[in-house]
Amino acid sequence: MVRKYVIGNPFPTEAVVQEFPPEKGLPEQVRISTDNGFELTCSLEDGDRVYGLGENVRGINKRGFRYISDCADAPHHYEDVSSLYAAHNFLIVAGHRTFGLFLDYPATMTFDVGYEKMDELRITCDRADLDLYVLDGDSPQDIVHTFRCMIGRSYIPPRFAFGFGQSRWGYMNEDDIRDVVRKHREAHVPLDMVYMDIDYMERYKDFTVNAERYPDFPAFVEEMRREHVRLIPIIDAGVKIEKGYGTYEEGVAGNYFCKNARGEDFVGEVWPGWVHFPDVLNPEAREWFGGQYRFLVDQGIEGFWNDMNEPSIFKTPEGEAEAKEAARRFADAPAPASTGELQAALRALPNSHENFRRFFHRVGDRMVCHDDVHNLFGYNMTRAAGEAFERMYPDRRILLFSRSSYVGMHRYGGIWQGDNYSWWSHLLLNLKMMPSLNMVGFLYTGADLGGFGSNCSRDLVLRWLALGVFTPLMRNHSAIRTREQEFYRFERPEDFRAVISVRYRLLPYLYSEYMKAALGNDMMFRPLAFVYPEDPVAVEIEDQLMLGDEIMIAPVYQQNMSGRFVYLPETMMLLRFLPDGRLEETVLEKGSHYIPVALNEVILLIRQGRALPLGDVFEYEEAVDDSDLVMHGFPGASYELYSDDGMTRMYDRPENRRTLHMPET
Ligand code: GLC
Repeated sequence: MVRKYVIGNPFPTEAVVQEFPPEKGLPEQVRISTDNGFELTCSLEDGDRVYGLGENVRGINKRGFRYISDCADAPHHYEDVSSLYAAHNFLIVAGHRTFGLFLDYPATMTFDVGYEKMDELRITCDRADLDLYVLDGDSPQDIVHTFRCMIGRSYIPPRFAFGFGQSRWGYMNEDDIRDVVRKHREAHVPLDMVYMDIDYMERYKDFTVNAERYPDFPAFVEEMRREHVRLIPIIDAGVKIEKGYGTYEEGVAGNYFCKNARGEDFVGEVWPGWVHFPDVLNPEAREWFGGQYRFLVDQGIEGFWNDMNEPSIFKTPEGEAEAKEAARRFADAPAPASTGELQAALRALPNSHENFRRFFHRVGDRMVCHDDVHNLFGYNMTRAAGEAFERMYPDRRILLFSRSSYVGMHRYGGIWQGDNYSWWSHLLLNLKMMPSLNMVGFLYTGADLGGFGSNCSRDLVLRWLALGVFTPLMRNHSAIRTREQEFYRFERPEDFRAVISVRYRLLPYLYSEYMKAALGNDMMFRPLAFVYPEDPVAVEIEDQLMLGDEIMIAPVYQQNMSGRFVYLPETMMLLRFLPDGRLEETVLEKGSHYIPVALNEVILLIRQGRALPLGDVFEYEEAVDDSDLVMHGFPGASYELYSDDGMTRMYDRPENRRTLHMPET
């Protein structure tokens, strides 16, 4: 049951696809005030838990902290930050009363979840213009399902996207990429994708390929395809200002860029230097920008990652001028000069709301200030590509994921979890974010395995890969000038082969669970609390997750631990993938167990009475054979396998589903 309340004059974000007649009056579950902006409050009782908010810091239960929806280029995911790259304004209060809230509002919104006052949820924003949805349901999972039906089916990538991808900001040319591929193939470490970061472009210009580094790009794409590897290029939000550059010229001529207050094309600085931003909130500009991707698809490209689309702005000419003025005043002031003004001017240069107030989108016949719709940019950049793919390639799937997002973008692409660090705490954050992202529709997701910023250690990469084997997006990515973290940079590379290979044995199961979650508007990763709500221990556990209906995962996320404690809410079968390819199966009773896990092993736990299908090890997705699967688990269990061609959009054919049985004894 969903109730919609229209407050003020909301901006049409198009996050929700179902229609609901607006209610008269106000919801009974919460108190609302519009005297000074918008404020929603409701009391939290002892033991109430609050779920949701998608991509965010901290735990699965959001209680006890303050979160701010304000899409930010936020590389430092410290424990005390309040905003990451996304705005996912959906949450569930579960306990004495259980209900969901979705606040469809495109600018900054603050969620104080028992932070200032421990028994109060308080949601605020500057303008009282939003659609508020109140969702009832029997359980959190039920509310998630209702919400997911409201916002439309999640994006479905091609099946190859469930393979392993190697990435690094720093692969400079085709020989660097050949080298990555050769090393994987020689060592029999599976590989399906190599990601191309900004250096493949000509001077960081979107929809160009550097001809010195890639003299015959289509031939190179084809050569990689013969190796069963797909190249996945990055696309950035900013379009370089450069006379004669096609995308720039077309954008100016078509009036497709965001404007400044004087009605000129707005200028900001990103990797290419000065850029314009495509006005992706305007449907015509969106169609134009999406059409640009064809340049690469025509050369054989089958997937993209959209970046810097919060949008990230290093500075604007106006900000630069102000900072220089402040610096001049500082230089001229008698000593000791105060640094306050200068520091404020420098802080306002990158990614500031000062910059967001400097530009405008065309929406119908009015101009809307970017700051008022800031959280919709990454969503609509990715929507531009997604809509174009549906239009241009109706019969095939293209891999697409984004850094920034808003609810609604989940229909067009996935997300990666942004610029994390090679920190153990970020491995755990990766795990905890999975169910929260699933709640808001983002199923195709994962983090930069091994960590993006700072230097990794061998054990961290191995442990992170052992979580990554379960996440739909499995990609090792790192930043330029950090320690290199491809498997072959470390001692005993065979340990990495052992871990990555498990992914390919699990691939039929993972793909099947993904498809069932997408087609059924359901979650692939669930907190234990959703599955064992009556178990007082299970409801608080956040470092183990349920994956589909069959298994529980419990990765090791601490350094120098040769195993971990795992809580079993019921009898389960421990399945251990040994480095030599053998499997070990042990039935464990309900309760706590210390489970040793070597660095070159992966474990999972099969629920009582369930079984999952496993295949052999393959070195790339195309080789994965669904017809030769072996069931593992409890005698007599059956499993519904979803499998299709992985490429077209014919998801609903009955022959895509078949039941596999585990023998009775
Ligand atoms: C951003 C992206 C990162 C990428 C880098 C260079 O920081 O988040 O993944 O490697 O830009 O393009």
